[in-house]
Amino acid sequence: MDREIYVPPMNPGAVPPPPREVFAVMGEANIERMLEDFYLELGRGSPALRALFPDDMVAASRRSAAFFIGLLGGPPRYHERYGNPMMRARHLPFEINDSRRDEWLACFEQVLADAPARYQFPAEHLEAFRAFLRGFSAWMVNSRDA
Ligand code: HEM
Repeated sequence: MDREIYVPPMNPGAVPPPPREVFAVMGEANIERMLEDFYLELGRGSPALRALFPDDMVAASRRSAAFFIGLLGGPPRYHERYGNPMMRARHLPFEINDSRRDEWLACFEQVLADAPARYQFPAEHLEAFRAFLRGFSAWMVNSRDA
């Protein structure tokens, strides 16, 4: 890799995980639908953001959904299918700076705005989920370049 890797000065273990009761309400199919819509939103993002992702956004969204299913209190699908998550390491091949993180979060926000009605996301847990996304996405930042 021909670039300088930035390491955020933070302890990712200190980011509180999202509430694990969410899965019991949503179930696997709703989480997959939510992540599919999120990836379609990412696909409509800036060309720089879009270029990070593969052509098949539905397939890409399933890998993310597998991770979120476990995180939100369901079975450990990501681990079963792909092994140890090691999310920061898996994101290193992609140049993620603060502005791309902001765009990523804004795309998630679009989807979360209707999430209780569309995917049965329990509204009382939305703020905690947003806090997790803000905290954990900061750990994915690996570049200072614009
Ligand atoms: C809460 C923070 C985040 C979580 C939980 C997360 C989760 C994931 C997961 C589970 C994958 C699938 C890895 C695999 O292929 O097995 C993934 C892939 C990816 N993520 Fe993230 N991510 C986060 C933040 C970000 C941010 C901020 C960006 C960039 C702006 C980003 C860009 C990507 C890209 C480019 C891929 C690869 C897409 C592909 O080839 O399938 N992620 N992410």
